[in-house]
Amino acid sequence: MTKVAVIGAGLIGRAWSIVFARAGMEVALWDKFPETVPAARDYIADRLPELRDAGLLADAPDAVLARIHPAASIAEAVAGVDYVQENGPERIPEKQELFAELDRHAAPGVVLASSTSGIPASAFTEGLAGRARCLVAHPVNPPYLIPLVEICPAPWTEAWAVARTREIMTEARQVPATINREVQGFVLNRLQGALLAEAFRLIDDGLISPEDLDATVKHGLGLRWSFMGPLETIDLNAPGGLADYCARYGGLYADLQKQMTPRAWDAELIGKLDAARRAELPLNMQGVRQEWRDRRLMALLAHKAAQPD
Ligand SMILES: NC(=O)c1ccc[n+]([C@@H]2O[C@H](COP(=O)([O-])OP(=O)(O)OC[C@H]3O[C@@H](n4cnc5c(N)ncnc54)[C@H](O)[C@@H]3O)[C@@H](O)[C@H]2O)c1
Repeated sequence: MTKVAVIGAGLIGRAWSIVFARAGMEVALWDKFPETVPAARDYIADRLPELRDAGLLADAPDAVLARIHPAASIAEAVAGVDYVQENGPERIPEKQELFAELDRHAAPGVVLASSTSGIPASAFTEGLAGRARCLVAHPVNPPYLIPLVEICPAPWTEAWAVARTREIMTEARQVPATINREVQGFVLNRLQGALLAEAFRLIDDGLISPEDLDATVKHGLGLRWSFMGPLETIDLNAPGGLADYCARYGGLYADLQKQMTPRAWDAELIGKLDAARRAELPLNMQGVRQEWRDRRLMALLAHKAAQPD
């Protein structure tokens, strides 16, 4: 039985607890503010029936919830675990403090992973005796609906720690993607940033409306992207595969890249984009739409799980 410690019981710590417990692992859940842990269990108890109804839970909700155990201290949380996932605040001093304590108490050979969205592991692990076992395992929110996890080592992280994290993530039914060295934004947000930068530029230049821009991804690019990446997409779009595609269209893309110069996201542009969104979705309806999004994601995941590979 794999045992993991989830450190921090906020939004992401709760979500990771679902991921690990759903996959049959025992979870020790700790938070600096003890009242957060029962609140997290209540939140998880509310989510599990939805996942069962969507066909995304193999075991009964009660059985999954019973695998999540509150821990009274970091030392108690990491006792006997195979892996640690840290989910404290997105601030370097707090991460330094948490990792120092985790490194003091976790047995040698146990990977210490941070969920950080954007802080490199080198910023909070440099001085630790066990820095070779520390890395980032960055989830996409919520990880129980979006399986990708970006694994990013610090310069001193040893290869076994990356390999072990990939194993744990695979066992947890997540999909690991290794980033070979530290880079700002990891990879997913760099890709999203490239797309957003061009989307903002096209709208700013009056070439397309915000509604039609979203339609271009939703009804165009995005349909394939839910089951294949951009490299496989172009590989299938020319008779001779990727190299043939690049021979045919490389000149076009080279011209486009020259035109894609940096553009500030100034107040006027943001105001225009925000006004378009608020016309579509008043802010007081955002929660309703988020619930709708999660239901659509669950249905998509269930569909994907039912397909042959
Ligand atoms: N929210 C997201 O969409 C998202 C996505 C991917 C990664 N992450 C990362 O996950 C981590 C947690 O984010 P979150 O959204 O769950 O935040 P959150 O605020 O919901 O949870 C943070 C938890 O840390 C605890 N905490 C507060 N002060 C602390 C301290 N000084 N020391 C230790 N713990 C303390 C809080 O009680 C809280 O439970 C962050 O590093 C964040 O960047 C977040």
